[in-house]
Amino acid sequence: MHAIKVEKLEKKFGDFRALDGLDLDIRKGEVYGLLGPNGAGKTTAIKVLTGLLKMTAGNAEVLGTRLPNKDITQRVGYMPQETALYLGLTVHQNLEFFGKLFGMDKSKILEREAELLKFIDLERWKDEMVTNLSGGMKHRVSLACALIHEPEVLFLDEPTVGVDPELRESFWKFFGNLKEKGITILITTHYMDEASHCDRIGFMRTGKLIAEGQPQAILREAGTKSLEDAFLFFARRGK
Ligand SMILES: Nc1ncnc2c1ncn2[C@@H]1O[C@H](COP(=O)(O)OP(=O)(O)OP(=O)(O)O)[C@@H](O)[C@H]1O
Ligand SMILES: [Mg+2]
Repeated sequence: MHAIKVEKLEKKFGDFRALDGLDLDIRKGEVYGLLGPNGAGKTTAIKVLTGLLKMTAGNAEVLGTRLPNKDITQRVGYMPQETALYLGLTVHQNLEFFGKLFGMDKSKILEREAELLKFIDLERWKDEMVTNLSGGMKHRVSLACALIHEPEVLFLDEPTVGVDPELRESFWKFFGNLKEKGITILITTHYMDEASHCDRIGFMRTGKLIAEGQPQAILREAGTKSLEDAFLFFARRGK
């Protein structure tokens, strides 16, 4: 079964096509990496799939529900590229806020919060205002907020920017655990080394895919050693 299915997706801002015929078919439990240069349309695609933006043409389904549809937000987690935390609230209050937003009761929020704080290793910082945390720590809180309601599909927009290597590794381990639970992850990143953790990757350019497949298969097809070089190969071929 597919968790995310996108056909000929288009998103126009005025006359500009940020998404220009994007196709995606992502299976349940798959970790799919969307890669591409600045402005390729990665964030726009995620915003359409989370219901924050309306598509101007094409079709998109998440968990079998045709978009746009508000009901799906309960089943989906979203970590935005620019962290959307309340800086004047504590870590605990932020988690509580997002939990309440998803209609969770207090005891469930606290139970989930304990698990997530352990995972992001910020138990000691629970009652600290978010504004006083470092950039990487804010990122960890943002990830926890996206996970508070145990979503079935997770959209992670550059979740590891500014995160130190050790923690990046533990993030990826955690994503692996989520995958084992059947959770689907669509992730964007500019770190090509991270892409190798994905089941499949899609290279995006000017609002569409220019190549897609398992990282090893992409390398074989491009005849390159690195994914950076593979991207350049496909980008040049597309011209
Ligand atoms: N609200 C908006 N109004 C007008 N243009 C927009 C809007 N949002 C995005 N765009 C444009 O759409 C294009 C795609 O932007 P998007 O943020 O999706 O890129 P991206 O692939 O996420 O890039 P990055 O790697 O820098 O995050 C860009 O040219 C951007 O300027
Ligand atoms: Mg982006």
